[in-house]
Amino acid sequence: MRIVLVGPPGAGKGTQAAFLAKNLSIPHISTGDLFRANISQGTELGKKAKSYMDAGQLVPDEVTIGMAKDRMEQPDAVNGFLLDGFPRNVSQAEALDVALQADDVKLDAVLDLEVPEDEVVKRIAGRRICRNDSAHVFHVEYKQPKTEGVCDVCGGELYQRDDDQEETVRKRLEVYHTQTEPIIGYYQAQGLVKTISALGKVDEVTAKAMEALGR
Ligand code: AP5
Ligand code: MG
Repeated sequence: MRIVLVGPPGAGKGTQAAFLAKNLSIPHISTGDLFRANISQGTELGKKAKSYMDAGQLVPDEVTIGMAKDRMEQPDAVNGFLLDGFPRNVSQAEALDVALQADDVKLDAVLDLEVPEDEVVKRIAGRRICRNDSAHVFHVEYKQPKTEGVCDVCGGELYQRDDDQEETVRKRLEVYHTQTEPIIGYYQAQGLVKTISALGKVDEVTAKAMEALGR
C-alpha cells in the first residue's frame, strides 16, 4: 500500500506510523525524521534544514522533494510506503503525483488525523524523543518510558525537540493551516481522503486507522 498521513503537528502521525507501518509491512518515511538525522550527522542538507525547522517554517521544496524521492526509491519501498509529513504543500503533492505516475503506481489512501488544537498543544509540550532516532517517541504523561529520560527501544537519551518551544509550535500550526491543509482538498478531488479522529488511546486510534484503510 502507498499511504500519506496528514494532520497537524502533534497529532500523533509519527506514533501511529510506527504501528501502521509494522501492521502493513511497509517502511515509515518521515521527512521530519530524515531532516533530524541529517542534522545530528552534521550534513550540508541538515545545516540547510535546521534554520527553517527552528523557525517553524517549511524547508524549501527544492531540498525536500529530492530527499523524499531518494528515500522512496530505496529497495524497501518498492511495494509501498507510509509517508509522514510529506507532502506538506500542494506543490509537493503535485511532485509526488508526477513521481508516482512515472513508476505507473498510485496512492491508495490519505489518512487525515483530526485532533483539536488544545490537545495537540498538550501532546507536543510533553513529548520527548530519542537522541539516536527521532522516530522513538515518548510523552511525559501519555507514553512514559520505563526509566525516566531513557529510550525503551535503544537506551538513547530522551530530549525535547528544539522546535517544540511554545512560540515555534504556534508558527508550525499556522503553517499547517495555510500551507498543508490545502492538500486535503487536493486529495479529496482524487477520492483518497479518510478522516479519523485521533483522540483516544494510541491503540484505539491505530484500530480506527486500520479500519479506515480497509484492513
Ligand atoms: P515533523 O517532524 O514532520 O513535525 P510535525 O508535522 O510538526 O509533526 P510532529 O512530529 O510534531 O507530530 P506528530 O504528528 O508526528 O506527533 P507524535 O506522534 O510525535 O516536521 C518538523 C519540521 O521539519 C517542520 O516544521 C518543517 O520545518 C520540516 N519538514 C518536515 N517535512 C517537511 C516537508 N515535507 N516540507 C518542508 N518541511 C518539512 O505525537 C506527539 C506526542 O503525543 C508524543 O509525545 C506522543 O507520545 C503523544 N501521543 C501520540 N498519540 C497520542 C494519543 N493517542 N494519546 C496521547 N498522547 C499521544
Ligand atoms: Mg512526527
